[in-house]
Amino acid sequence: MAALKALTAQLLAWLLAAGGWLVLGQPVAATLGLALLQGVLAAGIGMLLKSERWWIAIHLLFSPALVLALRLELPPGLYLAVLAGLTFVFWTTFRGEVPLFLSNRATAEAVLGLLPDTPGLRVIDLGAGTGGLLRRLAQARPDAFFTGVEHAPLPYLVARFNARGLANLAVRRADLWRQPLAGQDVVYAFLSPAVMARLGVKARAELRPGALLISNSFPLPDGAPERVAEVSDRRSTRLYCYRMQ
Ligand SMILES: C[S@@+](CC[C@H](N)C(=O)[O-])C[C@H]1O[C@@H](n2cnc3c(N)ncnc32)[C@H](O)[C@@H]1O
Repeated sequence: MAALKALTAQLLAWLLAAGGWLVLGQPVAATLGLALLQGVLAAGIGMLLKSERWWIAIHLLFSPALVLALRLELPPGLYLAVLAGLTFVFWTTFRGEVPLFLSNRATAEAVLGLLPDTPGLRVIDLGAGTGGLLRRLAQARPDAFFTGVEHAPLPYLVARFNARGLANLAVRRADLWRQPLAGQDVVYAFLSPAVMARLGVKARAELRPGALLISNSFPLPDGAPERVAEVSDRRSTRLYCYRMQ
């Protein structure tokens, strides 16, 4: 949906900008003036479409940046390489609306404090990123078993590397929505507001009563958390803890 809105804003702005440019008697070429006009129009259309704030900034800067980059006459292979790199890191973020950003060390410590003491505890990180959080937890709790599920190829490979030497940490390359949760005692998720309702439905349907869902930063849209742990880091991270009924 977000990608469709962005495409609509860009294309419509290009039509309007090129039309206006022709009416002004200017040749439609890759000029900075035309790109700036297109950027302003795209940002305006993005606002009318109620796009997120970061999309407005992207719309404003996208075409001017494109024109400036063309002037640098960089080798075309470089653009392909950057595109391939971003694809391997962000994978289907545009579809799934969950980008890659990582839990920090302070958050890992706070999560550690929230884990029940039960030996043999099973913990899963849905969308494990590069696996740094899981590595920290698995090192601190050799009596528990940790699973990471990640679908983006490059973060997955880094997570596999981060799991080296830890017999109580497994990383799978899979879609988190297809990952069964039965048997897990704790689910950790740092995803996005766009998917929280779906996560709540999945957790309540699959987790056993008493299991814990810890969501970094994003609360479930329905149902009050059992507790909210405040992390003293720069972004004042909040960990929303839900006990399954
Ligand atoms: C915000 S990051 C959190 C990373 C890690 N859990 C942490 O806290 O440091 C979200 C991760 O979820 C992954 N992701 C998004 N959708 C996914 C899906 N459908 N299946 C598996 N992983 C997914 C993204 O690639 C990204 O690495």
